[in-house]
This record gives sequence, C-alpha cells and structure tokens, in this order.
Amino acid sequence: MDKTETRENWDKMAEAYEEFTSVEDSYSNLIEWRTIKGILPELKDKSILDLGCGTGRFSFLFEEYKPKKIVGMDISEGMIAIGKKIAEERGSIVTFLNKDAESLSEIEASSFDLIFSSTMLHYIKDLDNVLKEIYRLTAENGTCILSIINPVYSACYPVMRADGKFPKDEEWKIRYLDYRLRAYIQPWIEYNDAVSDFLSYSYHHTMSDYINAIVKSGFQIKEMLERIPPAEWKENNLPRYYGYLETPTYAIFKCQK
Ligand SMILES: C[S@@+](CC[C@H](N)C(=O)[O-])C[C@H]1O[C@@H](n2cnc3c(N)ncnc32)[C@H](O)[C@@H]1O
Repeated sequence: MDKTETRENWDKMAEAYEEFTSVEDSYSNLIEWRTIKGILPELKDKSILDLGCGTGRFSFLFEEYKPKKIVGMDISEGMIAIGKKIAEERGSIVTFLNKDAESLSEIEASSFDLIFSSTMLHYIKDLDNVLKEIYRLTAENGTCILSIINPVYSACYPVMRADGKFPKDEEWKIRYLDYRLRAYIQPWIEYNDAVSDFLSYSYHHTMSDYINAIVKSGFQIKEMLERIPPAEWKENNLPRYYGYLETPTYAIFKCQK
C-alpha cells in the first residue's frame, strides 16, 4: 500500500473523522478511553508521544494529567491541521508533527516516557520495524500503550480481489490468516457526503503478529485488555451490544521498557 494514498485518504476524511469521534457515545469514548484511563502510568511532568494522533483526540485527553510535553505525530496534514486549530483555541500544550511513523530515525533515543498509539498500526506493513523504533524512543522504564484494531475485527475487512476491486459489505466474512490487502468502508463516512462509499486500505495483522513484534522489540507486555461492551448498551442498544461481543473493535496492550 502506497503511503501517499494513506496520507491523501486521511486528508480527505479528516473533517468527517473529527465529527464522528467527537460524539459522546462513540466506541472510542465508551470502550477505548475507559480502558486506557485505567492503565495509564504516572504522567505528571512526563513526555508523551501520540503516534498516529489524527486530530489529537487522545493527546488532548492526556493533558489533564499535567505532563510537561505532548507531541502528536501523524502522516496526514489534514488531520494535524484540525489538531493544531483545536490546540490554538484551547491554549493547549500539545504540539504536532507531520511525520510518518516509519521514519523516526532522526528522533533522539529515550525521548518519551509514554509512547501511545491508537488505531494506527493497521496502516503499517512492517510491525517489527515500527515497534523497534518505538522501543528505542521510549525512556528507560517507560511505557508504551498500543490500542489496536482487534484482529478479530480486521479479519472481517474485505480482501482485495484479483481484479483490484473489493467485495460488497454483504460478502464480508472472517479470513483470519489471509494477509492480502484489506479495505474498510469507514463508519464516519455518513458524516461527509463528499466522500460517500470511500474506501481506505489497511493491513490485517493477527494477534500473534502484534505480540511477537512487541516482544521482539524488547518490551515486556504487562497487560492486554479486550473489554466487554458497556452494560448500558444492553438496555438501550442490544444490536450494538451483541455486535461488539461478536467482533470487538479494540485490543489494548500495556508494555514496559
Ligand atoms: C483511525 S485514525 C486514528 C487517529 C487517532 N489516533 C485517534 O484515535 O483518534 C488513524 C490515523 O493513523 C494515521 N496514520 C496512518 N499511517 C500512518 C503512518 N505511517 N504514520 C503516521 N500516521 C499514520 C492516519 O493519518 C490517521 O490519522
């Protein structure tokens, strides 16, 4: 998958994504952030890198823990432009870097106490190299929290056919050990008429691919969390509750150097 394509796709989707993820009852708010909050290390006066930060949603959430530095890094200028605007409006300490997570070599070793990444690694083909670099940039005894698209879920993403096209949603089925390029029709597309039916490409890595890349890098896995959906969904949205039970969106790793 060409990096230019990833960058351009995210530039186009930036506004719709920001609108989608700002919704109070998003999966990210109700499941992902609730889980992450419970495993954060002490962040007061620490340095944080948010890799694949998008519009900076998590970077801004970290601010309440009073770190001394928060850097959001993303390959998409469009996503970062929104983040910068929000930072300016809020007088936030978050700074942004428009950069590819696979080109981190000029950043000094041991620069960050926490390296965080949410739902970015399925755009990376070579997990081993990125994890090695994340490890290098993490301070001694520092923490890395990786929130990934659960492989059970990415295994449902449609696989590219021989003619270069993707099947329709109704043809989707689980193909767990199939490494061909995947596509996904973004749920936030409904927030943006200009890009209806737009597809972006991604990779499906298995759970062992993630675990092995983390372990090989030198990190110790302290915890891995797959949270069950909130009980309130059982009361007010049964299809959403059972949908998440079947194919959870997130798996979250807490790792230590
Ligand atoms: C699903 S969004 C997640 C954004 C943010 N972490 C959040 O949770 O709201 C994925 C992000 O990964 C970024 N991304 C994809 N490939 C990347 C790469 N190689 N380097 C840096 N960012 C990348 C995209 O531009 C996009 O902003």
